Amino acid sequence: MPRDQYDAIILGAGAAGLLCAAIAGQRGRRILLVDHADEVGKKILISGGGRCNFTNLHTAPDRYLSANPHFAKSALSRYTAADFIALVDSHRIAWHEKTLGQLFCDGSAKQIVALLLDECARGQVDLALGQSVTDIAHVTDYRVTIGARTVTAPSLVLATGGPSIPKLGATGFAYDVARRFGLKIVEPRPALVPLTLAGDDLLFRDLAGVATPVVARAGKASFHEAALFTHRGLSGPAILQASSYWRHGDAVGIDFLPAATPDWLLALKRTQPRTTLRRALAATIPDRLAEALSDRLAIGELAATTDRRLTDAARTLADWRFHPNGSEGYAKAEVTVGGISTADLSSQTMAARRVPGLYAIGEAVDVTGWLGGYNFQWAWASGWAAAQDV
Ligand code: FDA
Repeated sequence: MPRDQYDAIILGAGAAGLLCAAIAGQRGRRILLVDHADEVGKKILISGGGRCNFTNLHTAPDRYLSANPHFAKSALSRYTAADFIALVDSHRIAWHEKTLGQLFCDGSAKQIVALLLDECARGQVDLALGQSVTDIAHVTDYRVTIGARTVTAPSLVLATGGPSIPKLGATGFAYDVARRFGLKIVEPRPALVPLTLAGDDLLFRDLAGVATPVVARAGKASFHEAALFTHRGLSGPAILQASSYWRHGDAVGIDFLPAATPDWLLALKRTQPRTTLRRALAATIPDRLAEALSDRLAIGELAATTDRRLTDAARTLADWRFHPNGSEGYAKAEVTVGGISTADLSSQTMAARRVPGLYAIGEAVDVTGWLGGYNFQWAWASGWAAAQDV
């Protein structure tokens, strides 16, 4: 095969592109993996606080957002969390479960990048790093111009991710290329992102740094994890999760006392009439938050408060409505919801239905996971599926 002729050119050497290249290379395909960054897997390196939450034991299609909730099923069932764990184990990388099925390296995310590069080397993958793609033409093969070089292949894989965290080199490039080939894009928006507050809600700014376990609700989704007040609004895992389901104009409902029964304040009034709402709350949540909430509800001693008001207060505390005015945007979003429409792709192979030889994998596709290793598992699974077909 001539030097610049490949079986597949993969654009984007992130999680999905690296795994896809390695597996396809190991199937005997001649693969070129291209990235405009001079280093592969930058998001992997910073993921999970530098320890890479590389998969989740509870991976299931219902933990993904997509216009077609069935699309991810095939790939996720053919390349599972257990498959990636076996790969991690074969490289003797020690790992642990932190919480909620989230698996992290004991050491460093660098080990996952080293694993992927090692697997690419086993597949004799050619790497072209620090190279910008200046042109893509498609006649029978794809002709891709990378700097001064033109390479050709019958298959082209879009693995350049979504636009989250532009300072790491993230772009909407995959969407532009997909559009050029007639594929539809489901409107992208930042997800797993802190939400910002304004107006009345700003009073909560005084609580910056306070964290507490809550149930956060947005749309039909709810998440029982920690919420964190910030100088700009709300963050923490429960809020990041809810942000993926949040739309401008929606409220986010927060249950500050997920374990409390609806009549807990009435019951407390009977047993400890002299206690105050603040003291009652401070038994469960941080004192500064207890103070802010009881001030807002304007309730002091329970004995001096009618049963009706206490019942209403318990209801409000179980569904405190915040009205975010926005999010911290792509600069802070861990992922992008939306992307290349699954309606135009095969769920078996990730190939475009009407454009021969074109594939899209990873975050570029309209499949977005929850926080907790689900996004990497989608990157591995979709990359593996395409690797069987290129
Ligand atoms: P990814 O973004 O990894 O790779 C795309 C590649 O394409 C990049 O290397 C980029 O340089 C390249 N590229 C972009 N535009 C290009 C162009 N025009 N030309 C050439 N190359 C181009 N997920 C998870 O499951 N567990 C976790 O612990 C975390 N933690 C985490 C932390 C932070 C801070 C962020 C921002 C994200 C996470 N994620 C995560 C999400 C996870 O990182 C993300 O979903 C995957 O990296 C997506 O993999 P892809 O390969 O699709 O894109």
